[in-house]
Amino acid sequence: MSHSTSTGPLGPGDHVVVLTGAGISADSGLATFRGGGGLWEGHRVEDVATPEAWARDPATVWRFYQLRRAALLEVEPNAGHRALFELESAASERGVGFTLITQNVDDLHQRAGSTVIPMHGQLQRLRCETCGHFQDGLEYLDTETFLPCSQCGDPSLRPDIVWFGEMPYDLDAIEVAMSSVTHFLASGTSGAVYPASGLLSAARSVGAQTFVNALDAPENLGHKDVFLEGSASQVLPQWVASCLRG
Ligand code: APR
Repeated sequence: MSHSTSTGPLGPGDHVVVLTGAGISADSGLATFRGGGGLWEGHRVEDVATPEAWARDPATVWRFYQLRRAALLEVEPNAGHRALFELESAASERGVGFTLITQNVDDLHQRAGSTVIPMHGQLQRLRCETCGHFQDGLEYLDTETFLPCSQCGDPSLRPDIVWFGEMPYDLDAIEVAMSSVTHFLASGTSGAVYPASGLLSAARSVGAQTFVNALDAPENLGHKDVFLEGSASQVLPQWVASCLRG
């Protein structure tokens, strides 16, 4: 096992898989989930991020997510997001596979240019519970009034967020990516939420080199993982540069 802090020179046949979490967007000004005494923007997660909360008190949940959607208009991708786009671009030029998976529901990876698998849904998207239509955009930010679906007209749009107890998106695509991973990085995630938290051990089990970036050692950090301690906006540009230099 190498304890080099970079991947070494990447070449054809390599496949870099990156999993990001709330920490990568912290330097853009978005709150992480498990800071602040276990509260997310002042709310207990079970009061806003479960299907039961939506059934019990849709007005509170709607208002909460409309505020999170509005907050996206106030933030920009940071150097961490940009570094991962740089890695994606360089990988494609070198014939290296690259897959970016995020647990984040913000759109900062997309705005940095990345192609991303948003396994926990996306704030900029609403989903109709009546007809299944997806409605994209951040134009409608009213916190008090539900929005009718543009397809069926029912006022049944909900945030397209994977709440606790719901199935994450794109698990098949993630499984395919993990079957050929050679270098895995988890950045800005506490490793507390399954199945995302299991990707690190899945990468280890297929013999990938594993890297973990966070402010504090996450729950699932293993002794073979290279721990890159520090803020993603500082660590990732350096890590990407050293991986590209080899
Ligand atoms: N740079 C890098 N890492 C950071 C930074 C930063 N600037 N700031 C915080 N971190 C790290 C923390 O050390 C912690 O390990 O980011 C992690 C944030 O952990 P969580 O708040 O638990 O976020 P995340 O792992 O993305 O949460 C997973 O839980 O609530 C659900 O569905 C929600 O997708 C979310 C999932």
